[in-house]
Amino acid sequence: MKIAIGNDHTALDMKREIKAHLENKGHEVINVGTDSSESSDYAVYCEKIALAVTSGKADLGIAICGTGIGMSIAANKHRGIRCVVCSEPYSAMLSRRHNDSNMLAFGARVIGPEMAKMIVDAWLDATFEGGRHKKRVDLIMDIERRNCV
Ligand code: RB5
Repeated sequence: MKIAIGNDHTALDMKREIKAHLENKGHEVINVGTDSSESSDYAVYCEKIALAVTSGKADLGIAICGTGIGMSIAANKHRGIRCVVCSEPYSAMLSRRHNDSNMLAFGARVIGPEMAKMIVDAWLDATFEGGRHKKRVDLIMDIERRNCV
């Protein structure tokens, strides 16, 4: 899979660990985050990740900041993005199975790298179940169509 990954200054080491983890598993990783520890603005990198996903350059996106919250708020401003913040693997897995999430966010100040790898693996190993869940995701996308200019 092609996975876009991005981060702000709080998540440099975490991004590097997750990037290496994904590459070890055979994924192609597109790094659009900062590689500097200078203070930076998460929304800038989040937009790059989301655009990689919505343009089809990447299949999925992973966004890491201090909490994952700013990244997820910014990501969900993009048409077609369904970004979830997760601190454990169960929600990450179900966000793919039930919500067809296409971006995952987490906080480098909230969880450690081993938990982050478990979350990422659970997310990537799960697939959207469709059926009744498709109807519900379609309803979400209808809200986007009606309310976002
Ligand atoms: C940066 O201090 C921090 O606010 C940012 O990484 C993120 O946690 C925002 O949601």
